[in-house]
Amino acid sequence: MYKVGIIGLGSIAARYAKPEDPYPYCHTGGIRYCESTELAAVADLSQERRDEFKQIWGSAFPEDSINYYESDIQMLDNEELDIIAVCVRGPHHYKVMMEVLKYDIKAIFLEKPAGCSLKEVDEMTKKAKEKCIPIVVSYSRHWAPHLLRLQELVKDGLVGEVQSVIGYCGGGVLSFAIHTTDLICQFAGYDPVSVTGFVRTSQGQVPEGYEPEPPVIGATIRYSSGVIGYHVGQHGKIGGFSVDVLGSEGTLKTGMYTGTVLQKDGEIVANSALDLPENASVFKVAYQQIADYLDGGPLPHCSEKDYMAVNEIGFAMIESSITGKNIDIPCQNRERLIYANG
Ligand SMILES: NC(=O)c1ccc[n+]([C@@H]2O[C@H](COP(=O)([O-])OP(=O)(O)OC[C@H]3O[C@@H](n4cnc5c(N)ncnc54)[C@H](O)[C@@H]3O)[C@@H](O)[C@H]2O)c1
Repeated sequence: MYKVGIIGLGSIAARYAKPEDPYPYCHTGGIRYCESTELAAVADLSQERRDEFKQIWGSAFPEDSINYYESDIQMLDNEELDIIAVCVRGPHHYKVMMEVLKYDIKAIFLEKPAGCSLKEVDEMTKKAKEKCIPIVVSYSRHWAPHLLRLQELVKDGLVGEVQSVIGYCGGGVLSFAIHTTDLICQFAGYDPVSVTGFVRTSQGQVPEGYEPEPPVIGATIRYSSGVIGYHVGQHGKIGGFSVDVLGSEGTLKTGMYTGTVLQKDGEIVANSALDLPENASVFKVAYQQIADYLDGGPLPHCSEKDYMAVNEIGFAMIESSITGKNIDIPCQNRERLIYANG
């Protein structure tokens, strides 16, 4: 069993789900249901959050099996942990990650957005590589069992040669719509070469040094494979977190909250032909991939090459909109600091 410690007991760590949920959308529920992980420790600066966590989740775990800490450093100093889940808000990711990376741990599961600038992400990635600690970024919907299965089927030619992938989701480029940026890559590949993007100007008040995070209007992503990705931020009634995968032999519509429809030769193919797996908590699946990697298996999805690609696309959308240019990846401007406070 791999020991997990969570830093930050907010929505995505624990509050989005309850112990009775069959497919909990939160780290705590995923760690609990994953057969290879145990929750050993949690840390939050807020006493109220720690108390709430204990009250709601405490009895779902063996008695006294979870240690509670007032800060990330206190937890890291007092525990021997294998996996750290970093679940604080985006602007705190860099500081917390650089702290976590001082310790001898085996893997980090970092909530999106990876960081608030490309420089921050470069630095944490460099440090992690030096210590051979994989970082997995939580584009959490990626691990929906049906999406993982469809990703494999598409790779194996389900719709022939993929030509275009259209993904739908508006909202903050880096801390919300980025889930769909990942979803586009899940089917188009993680080899983007350039981006033309349009974002809305955002006026919010932000701390000094930061720029507000703009919502995405739309973007075109060119991949080295020749595939074109279209990120649609204004999508009317089409459900968010969904994609259309357009191939030479068919079209696949799927997503996290929309049904799956495969069309070939003008006919809808029955979903029973796709042998889609049963549902599961996306966090359970992700933690299992991390544990399997620690047991000698392949790198988990959304680790370095993947999150770097997704993150580059996000920042390139903003850069392109501001400069009015098509932006080559990797982006040259690595300093732009966005208040991605999701
Ligand atoms: N994957 C998803 O679908 C999804 C959904 C929501 C949020 N998120 C991401 O999860 C992260 C957290 O968002 P949230 O909405 O859960 O935040 P939140 O504000 O609900 O909770 C964050 C918690 O972190 C604690 N904290 C801050 N610094 C700390 C430190 N140094 N040590 C210990 N605790 C610390 C705060 O006290 C707070 O309780 C963000 O990056 C966000 O983008 C992801």
